[in-house]
Amino acid sequence: MTGHDAPLRLGVLGCADIARRRTVPAVAEVDGVKLAAVASRDAARAAATAAEFGCAAIVGYDTMLASPSIDAVYIPLPATAHAAWIEQALTAGKHVLAEKPLTTERETSVRLMALARERGLVLLENMTFLHHAQHTTVPGLLADGKIGQPRDLTSVFTVPPLPEGHSQSTPGVGGGALLEQGVYPIRAAVRYLGEDLRVLGAALHVRGGDGMVVSGRVLGTTPQGVTADLRFGVRHSYRSSCAIAGSTGRLVLEHAFTPPASHRPVVRIERQDHREEVTLRADHQFANLITFFAAAVRGIERGEPDPLLQRLAEGSLRQAELIAEIEEGARRITV
Ligand SMILES: NC(=O)c1ccc[n+]([C@@H]2O[C@H](COP(=O)([O-])OP(=O)(O)OC[C@H]3O[C@@H](n4cnc5c(N)ncnc54)[C@H](OP(=O)(O)O)[C@@H]3O)[C@@H](O)[C@H]2O)c1
Repeated sequence: MTGHDAPLRLGVLGCADIARRRTVPAVAEVDGVKLAAVASRDAARAAATAAEFGCAAIVGYDTMLASPSIDAVYIPLPATAHAAWIEQALTAGKHVLAEKPLTTERETSVRLMALARERGLVLLENMTFLHHAQHTTVPGLLADGKIGQPRDLTSVFTVPPLPEGHSQSTPGVGGGALLEQGVYPIRAAVRYLGEDLRVLGAALHVRGGDGMVVSGRVLGTTPQGVTADLRFGVRHSYRSSCAIAGSTGRLVLEHAFTPPASHRPVVRIERQDHREEVTLRADHQFANLITFFAAAVRGIERGEPDPLLQRLAEGSLRQAELIAEIEEGARRITV
């Protein structure tokens, strides 16, 4: 339990790249949250990271979870380690912000969401793009009829090959490209087309030898026939886009998932006789998410849970269900 006026004391489990590059610097920008400590399996790494960000260094994740000076933890561990550490953190009474994918199995995510609810704790997946203002503006443009009735969505998240031995593509450690990169277009499709999206078919490109997924393409549809074409992987140049084609026009967001805080997104709207670019304000999706997480903790502690927390949890579970459908039905092609 935290005092409502005292800052939320956040601990970080693991000196991950994403923590050091984006999440931890964003914490400094958020009122009401204090980076209290970073924990690492390695004493020197904990000390160096703590010195960089001006907080305490802790050796061992379990030592952090046992600390009464930590109210909440951020878990940026490799995907296969999320479930066990989320469970231990919730059991230790800590609120949890966990990196995507929340876990590698839907049933486990359902169980951990239930555990968080039972214990009156927040469990939130760090899907930061959902907290960028551009994704609040676009539904408004669609509702204004800028492209007519939506007919299909195309979304892409691809990054160049990861360095040899990177945790995200190490068997038994990372999740592979469906869980690491695929979650973005899949979640965008759920966000824009709704939770009743279904998978029609999928191709997963797998690495010879260890079978890790390196890229893929998914075709989905809503019950009304609005289709989704989703592409992801670690075999192409960087792309991070979301486009919706409608009965009278097309709307394109080129930097849909990981825009830096200084980036002013441009929404392009194309109709037969018209082309328009709407430049939006820059926004800091990592800071926004941490602000939301802290407010959600305060809400739960007051006995007034934010309804958005429940909707985000449902979105995370729907995303996990779609991933399970893709894993089950996909054609695997060795590349
Ligand atoms: N939200 C986003 O925009 C975003 C972006 C990129 C990645 N991610 C997610 O963040 C998570 C971490 O990704 P990352 O690329 O930042 O990973 P990373 O740099 O490899 O860091 C993972 C950290 O986990 C700890 N760890 C514990 N067991 C490990 C093991 N067996 N192998 C390697 N590291 C281990 C290490 O910390 P210590 O050695 O200090 O203990 C390591 O620094 C993944 O779930 C990924 O999908 C999210």
